[in-house]
Amino acid sequence: MSEHAPGIIRKLWPGEVQVFRDHLLRLDQETRRSRFGSAVSDDFITHYSERVFRSGAVVHGCFVEGVLRAAAELYPFSEVLATEGEAAFSVEQAYQNLGLGTVLMGRTVLTARNRGIRTLHMNCLARNRRMQQIARKFDADLTVESDEVIAQLKAPYPTLVSMAREATEEAQGVVGAMFQAQWSAGQRMLNLMLPAAA
Ligand SMILES: CC(C)(COP(=O)(O)OP(=O)(O)OC[C@H]1O[C@@H](n2cnc3c(N)ncnc32)[C@H](O)[C@@H]1OP(=O)(O)O)[C@@H](O)C(=O)NCCC(=O)NCCS
Repeated sequence: MSEHAPGIIRKLWPGEVQVFRDHLLRLDQETRRSRFGSAVSDDFITHYSERVFRSGAVVHGCFVEGVLRAAAELYPFSEVLATEGEAAFSVEQAYQNLGLGTVLMGRTVLTARNRGIRTLHMNCLARNRRMQQIARKFDADLTVESDEVIAQLKAPYPTLVSMAREATEEAQGVVGAMFQAQWSAGQRMLNLMLPAAA
């Protein structure tokens, strides 16, 4: 399974509510329906985003040229020693089918594993073949209930190696974010210093 993604993958920080909200607001109607199970309004998304980080969720994001284009939310079912959790994924339409969902699923499974979460639930519409295809890559059991598919994925027990992997991947994401910030600042400086094209 490829770990290459066209962007920087890292956990979102609690101060990035607006970044997360803006990503969800950019989702087109069909993607919103697949993500939330029904059509949702901009107001719903705004309130939802504000609640996510207060709920104890761990959110991974994929930033392409500094903009959050895909996210994976992991919700432990309990605040203390959760053994089960739920995951949800959103990739903006122009960035779908590029492998971002698969990479984010890998990060989410690793994070769940390292927190002792062994069963990960994912709800998706029965016609959501893409999500089911990703779940299959991670050996999930798929159960069809009316027009919903519930994927149950068993994460292995955490080990020192799995914990070190999460820490390394996170450090890579943070370093990537720093380079991105420096590059963007450099671009802004250049734009200020260079005369506008005639
Ligand atoms: C579902 C979603 C998260 C997947 O992310 P993604 O980045 O597009 O997916 P990837 O590129 O990693 O993988 C897609 C896989 O589905 C396969 N696929 C694409 N269309 C397919 C179809 N119609 N039928 C079966 N498989 C399909 C691709 O070939 C790929 O599998 P492969 O890597 O084995 O070739 C993303 O498309 C999305 O945000 N959709 C809307 C929201 C949603 O459905 N969220 C999930 C519910 S919580």
